[in-house]
Amino acid sequence: MCGIFGVITNQDNISLGNVVLEGIKRLEYRGYDSCGVVSLSNSKLYIKKDSGKIEEIQKRIDLAEIPNNSKLALAHTRWATHGKPTRINSHPHSDCSNKIAVVHNGIIENFIELRKALSERGHIFKSDTDTEVIPHLIEIKMKEGLDFKESVVETLKLLTGAYALAVCHVDYPDSIIVARKESPLVIGIIEGKTTYCASDIPAFLPLTRKCYIMDDDELAILKAGEVEFINLKTNEKIEKELKTIDWSIDAAEKGGYEHFMLKEIYEEPTAMKRTMKISKDLLRIFANILWSAENIYITAAGTSFYASLAGKFIISRFLGKYIQAIECSEFQTQLFNSLKNESVIIAVSQSGETIDTIEAIRWAKSKRNVKILTITNVVGSSLTRYSDHVIVTQAGPEIGVAATKTYNTQVLTLALIAIEIAKLRKIELESEIEKYEKALEETPQIIENFLKNNVDSIKDVVNTLEKSVNFFILARGISIATAKEGGLKLKEVACRFIEGYSAAHAKHGPISLVREGFPIIFIAPPDETYQRLIGNVMEFKARGGKIISLVVENDKYISDLSNISIRIPQPGNKYYNIFSPITFTPALQLLAYYAALLHGLDPDKPLNLSKTVTVH
Ligand code: AGP
Repeated sequence: MCGIFGVITNQDNISLGNVVLEGIKRLEYRGYDSCGVVSLSNSKLYIKKDSGKIEEIQKRIDLAEIPNNSKLALAHTRWATHGKPTRINSHPHSDCSNKIAVVHNGIIENFIELRKALSERGHIFKSDTDTEVIPHLIEIKMKEGLDFKESVVETLKLLTGAYALAVCHVDYPDSIIVARKESPLVIGIIEGKTTYCASDIPAFLPLTRKCYIMDDDELAILKAGEVEFINLKTNEKIEKELKTIDWSIDAAEKGGYEHFMLKEIYEEPTAMKRTMKISKDLLRIFANILWSAENIYITAAGTSFYASLAGKFIISRFLGKYIQAIECSEFQTQLFNSLKNESVIIAVSQSGETIDTIEAIRWAKSKRNVKILTITNVVGSSLTRYSDHVIVTQAGPEIGVAATKTYNTQVLTLALIAIEIAKLRKIELESEIEKYEKALEETPQIIENFLKNNVDSIKDVVNTLEKSVNFFILARGISIATAKEGGLKLKEVACRFIEGYSAAHAKHGPISLVREGFPIIFIAPPDETYQRLIGNVMEFKARGGKIISLVVENDKYISDLSNISIRIPQPGNKYYNIFSPITFTPALQLLAYYAALLHGLDPDKPLNLSKTVTVH
């Protein structure tokens, strides 16, 4: 939800202000309602904060301007949960004595009762946030005679909810204390010199590749170039593995593109080629588990859910069993008294931190003996801890709030599992399976060709839609997943109310919206639904609808019926058609991107959104 960043150093040749500002900017995708920085010098806290995006705040106050002799700074970028996105609610928050400052990502669920108890003891609150109770609780513990670390440890015992937090204290200028429970936190280090903490690795990637990934119920004391980890359950020191991150810095930055969203769409072919290399052994483990399961569910949120809809369709075809897709937020209520032992649940999440997905899995595990197969893009993310087996998609860091390359790598991963299932079951002739495999292997190239040659046709469509605030994306069969994902992208970044819907079902109500010139995008790969889709196109055309179609290169019929078509350069046959959500979706992502630009919107920072939703 929010992003936190911290740095502590013993180096004189570092501009700490710039380091902290650049670090927090790289986390702005996690929320951009407000931003703040605290530095520490001559036994005083220096807090600068304001509401708005970092760039806007910088015009008013220079967040990077911090005292010269400061060797420690914390920063925060906020996605408001408790309290409006105002300056006063911006982090960092401090205690009554202004000695302790805290930045926090997560939600303190029992903050109302804590706040009441603190107020009764005379503590004055400046904000409406849940976070502000933390510095006050630490203040009390220190007044009781505990040292800084003990005070943080004892405070954490009083909190329920989720947190990744970083704390500093004017009397301890050589330490930052951080702790994690259910919200991501990573530590970067240049040994002997500088230590960083952040909500995500790209925040410090240009500065160091060495990092530790914190787990739940861990606390760390950061000093310049060193770090000590403590297990909060046992209160014992722990050794953690120092990892080397091999992502390119370029991958985590815009690399010449105007927006991360565009860069990430163009990274799809490479991301997919990397994902193709996922260990076959791991794919086979997933395939075997699914093959022997009786009840299979797939659960996720947002784009990951639409990737799951596409993936379950492909897997069901090869597996010969129905997989039920349930939005993670509805998982408990849907399966309240029907979840069976030995069920298999596939959880799909780019971040691995979406709270509703994690909760669905936790609930299922607490109720029944189930197996959890997770597909995520983030190594060591929270979801992986509740999983029996994990596949990490190889999309690399995705900074744009809109999921693009991660959608395709998710569907691809599910399709790769489906191919392994087909091989296990020998569901079709071996030579047939090989053809499916070859078609799947060609999908990155198809996308690359499309992105190279079709941007103008996308821009044409965007221009024809300029005045349209609402329209439909209609499809049948597997393409309903594509339509829904396209609708989500257009809503999210272009702020248009575009509904992805079943073309057949649209006759049962939505068609009444159609008037002369009302736009409808039809997703029309030449699969088994194509003939019937022709009928649907005719129905909407007859009522004056403006028909825009997404078709394969040599399409004849639906493109003839259309006012304008976008052609996907792929052969039209069953081996390719089943993977059409992969090859057709980039066109809709680009459409959403250019529509956002046309309407003067920043596609990387959609209104009211956060990359990772860690609240229910
Ligand atoms: C996608 O563009 C959205 N930003 C959003 O729907 C996202 O896919 C959803 O919040 C799920 O996130 P996850 O994959 O990290 O769990």
